[in-house]
Amino acid sequence: MRKFFQKALKKIDKLGIDQIRDLLKDLTTENELLEIVLDSMTDGILVTDTNNRLIFHNRRSERLIPFFSGDPDDSIIWEVIDDRDIAGFVEKSILNAEKGSEEEFTINIRGVTKTLWLDIMPVVKDGSIQGNLLHISDVTERKKRDSRLRRAENLASLTTLAAGVAHEIKNPLGSIGIHIQLMQKSLKRDHKLEEVKAGRYLEILNEEVERLNDIIVDFLFAVRPMNPTMEKSDLNKVISELLEFVKFELEEASVTIDCDLQQGLPKLEIDEKYMKQALLNIIKNAVAAMPKGGVLYFKTARDDSFIHIYICDTGIGISEENMAKIFEPYFTTKQFGSGLGLTVVYKIIKEHGGDIILESVEGEGTTFTINLPIPQVDKRLLDWKG
Ligand SMILES: Nc1ncnc2c1ncn2[C@@H]1O[C@H](COP(=O)(O)OP(=O)(O)OP(=O)(O)O)[C@@H](O)[C@H]1O
Ligand SMILES: [Mg+2]
Repeated sequence: MRKFFQKALKKIDKLGIDQIRDLLKDLTTENELLEIVLDSMTDGILVTDTNNRLIFHNRRSERLIPFFSGDPDDSIIWEVIDDRDIAGFVEKSILNAEKGSEEEFTINIRGVTKTLWLDIMPVVKDGSIQGNLLHISDVTERKKRDSRLRRAENLASLTTLAAGVAHEIKNPLGSIGIHIQLMQKSLKRDHKLEEVKAGRYLEILNEEVERLNDIIVDFLFAVRPMNPTMEKSDLNKVISELLEFVKFELEEASVTIDCDLQQGLPKLEIDEKYMKQALLNIIKNAVAAMPKGGVLYFKTARDDSFIHIYICDTGIGISEENMAKIFEPYFTTKQFGSGLGLTVVYKIIKEHGGDIILESVEGEGTTFTINLPIPQVDKRLLDWKG
């Protein structure tokens, strides 16, 4: 249809008044259709010209973001938005001529709290910028669904943990019970308890109580809500700082570090403290898997959607059978292991929206791959061709 109008425009001098009237009628109909389509969208659309004046907004946008009263069209866009955070973001993004920026906002309109996702893209025609397009979507329901899902996931892992605790406390409780019975028997038989004997029993009781305490402390650590503080961070920096921190310990264990960090990775929203803890738990396991020393290899890389962190060791590896169990709470092959190290790692990576993958060959070594999502800013420019 646009091509038809362009052709007609070229021949406008030769057209009669009736033909021009028909042309205008068609144009109006097409324009109306376009507006109806844009007005029926569930997302808000706002378009500005090169002077940052609002030249179009669909009906939905009025329900999603608050405007100052009066007709917002023809005004500078950030001056008509009645929300300081959104207006500030729009102004900054447009004035800094960012290629594409997006952000989440929580706003309260008429007593209803909404989470909005806003992205701004320049509109480009024949290589030059014609203005900007703001796209607003209401992600309130999606966010609620996500957190419901996470809660359900947490609940499920809590059940496994609780079953684990129940299993773990059985032994020390059994042992406490037996030793109390032994003491009662002695008292019944001899009407007294020798100091040495009593001392031995009490020592055992004490040890078992300590064991119970450790189990509870570890359990609480694993189930405690994480409350991460997400901040934009450079993952390579986080890894380098951590490796610096464990350098001497690794040296002592005859483990050499081999590092291949890809430069120019995008910054990610992470909780540095938790991320370091997750990586540290993996490093500790790797060192324990290399009792005679070896190589710990750290690598970062990216593709379109993820940053990958590879952590490889040249240790004893994990058997096929154990591979399925190592993230389970309380699974350990170590004499003094809690078996919660990797459970915590898993929890932290999930909290960051990521994934962790395990590969291992017995006698050769183990590789953990952590995939962390890169926020998807639609960097494509809207381009009108023709
Ligand atoms: N890099 C590795 N190489 C070989 N085995 C591993 C490696 N990482 C983990 N494992 C196996 O997975 C098990 C579970 O690890 P996890 O970190 O959860 O607990 P743990 O290390 O046994 O105890 P804790 O971390 O509390 O000291 C370990 O006992 C070990 O058998
Ligand atoms: Mg461990």
